[in-house]
Order: sequence, then structure tokens, then C-alpha cells
Amino acid sequence: MAITACVFDAYGTLFDVAAAARVAAEQPGQEDLAAVWPKLATDWRAKQLQYTWLRAVTGDHVSFWDVTTDALDWAMEAAGLDDPVLRETLRALYWELPAYNEVPKMLATLKADGMTTAILSNGSPDMLEGAVAFGGVGLWLDEVISVEDVGVFKPSHAVYNLVESRLGKAKENVLFVSANGWDAACATSYGFQTAWINRAGEPTDRLPGKPAHVLSDLTTLPELVKGL
Ligand code: LAC
Repeated sequence: MAITACVFDAYGTLFDVAAAARVAAEQPGQEDLAAVWPKLATDWRAKQLQYTWLRAVTGDHVSFWDVTTDALDWAMEAAGLDDPVLRETLRALYWELPAYNEVPKMLATLKADGMTTAILSNGSPDMLEGAVAFGGVGLWLDEVISVEDVGVFKPSHAVYNLVESRLGKAKENVLFVSANGWDAACATSYGFQTAWINRAGEPTDRLPGKPAHVLSDLTTLPELVKGL
């Protein structure tokens, strides 16, 4: 079945989530953060995702921005960083995450090839609007879809259902693209064709769905789509 839409996860897939901690660590006077920023970035992301999964299971939904702040607070405490000004700096930088280098050209090529393109993300609409604007990628996206429309996080099927209701595309015609192994696995089980962008060279998640395609970044995605 031909692919007519490419739907992207946002954080970690199109936008570099580690950039907030990395950029803050480069600022003058941030020697304490500079010593621990990779751990802070890893813990921040891991806790953020854990909280989304737990809240999806318990039905205790809050916005992704609240989850992101809660996860930052946990990660800062774990790193021994008690600094309210730094906390605000890191929160602000999360609204200015750069797109990965290959993203603009990749999206432009997909659009030139006639593909429908969209984001489907846990991010709240305002966060996603900020990321798309800062990354300068809005020109090549037909839709930016947030889980806030259904009030539950991925990998709930209610989220993946938004692709059909918002884009009018049957799941068989969708290539879902995520750098999160668990997201690619669960989207495969849902019925999308999937590409896992394994930027970190991680092992495949031991979950029922196995992504059909694995790429190390997004550069060759348009080529892959043409062959599907
Ligand atoms: C997202 C997270 C899971 O953008 O990366 O939905």
C-alpha cells in the first residue's frame, strides 16, 4: 500500500532535546552544570517520558509542559543543582530546541515529492508552535497535531487515531517516523508503517511491534519513502 503521508514524532526526532542542557552549560558562570549536563539531559528526558507513560496509564493527564517541568525538577535535584535561575533558563531553552541539521532539506524533499507531512507529538500546542517556529520548519508541515486534542499521551491508540481524524489518511498509507524506539514499536503494533530513527545506536526495544525500517538519521528518509 503506497505511503501518502509521513508523520513525525517531535522531540528527539525533529528537535534536539539535549540542546537545552547543552546550551545552558555553555553559558558563562555555569561551571556546575557544565560538569553534569549530559546526566541532567538524560535524566530530564527519561523522567519526562516515564511521567507521560504513568499518567497515560492512570488517566491523570496534565500538559506536556507540566510533565517537562516536573521531570526537570527531579533531574536538577538528582544532579545536586539547586538554582532557581538556572531552572528558568533551562525551561526557556526548551522552547528554543534546534531542529536537527538534516530536517529542513528532508521535509522540503518530501513536500516536493507530493507527500503529506505532519507532526504527532506529546507536546502541547504552544510548545510545538514554538519549536516549529524556532526550527524554521513550518513551511514544510501540513499539520502539527498535539495529544492535547485527546488528553492522553503516547502510546495510547487514541493519539495514533488522530492521524486518521486530522489528516484523513488510513494507517496503511502512513509512515510514522520516531527516534523513540518505544514509539516506533507501539506505532507498528497500531498498524502504521514505521521508521525508527536510531540516532544513538540503541538496541531494539523488546516490545511486540518491530519497526519496519531503521535509519541512523533522517537524511535518507525521502529515498526510503519513494521505494515504499
Ligand atoms: C513526542 C515525544 C515522545 O514528541 O518525543 O511526542
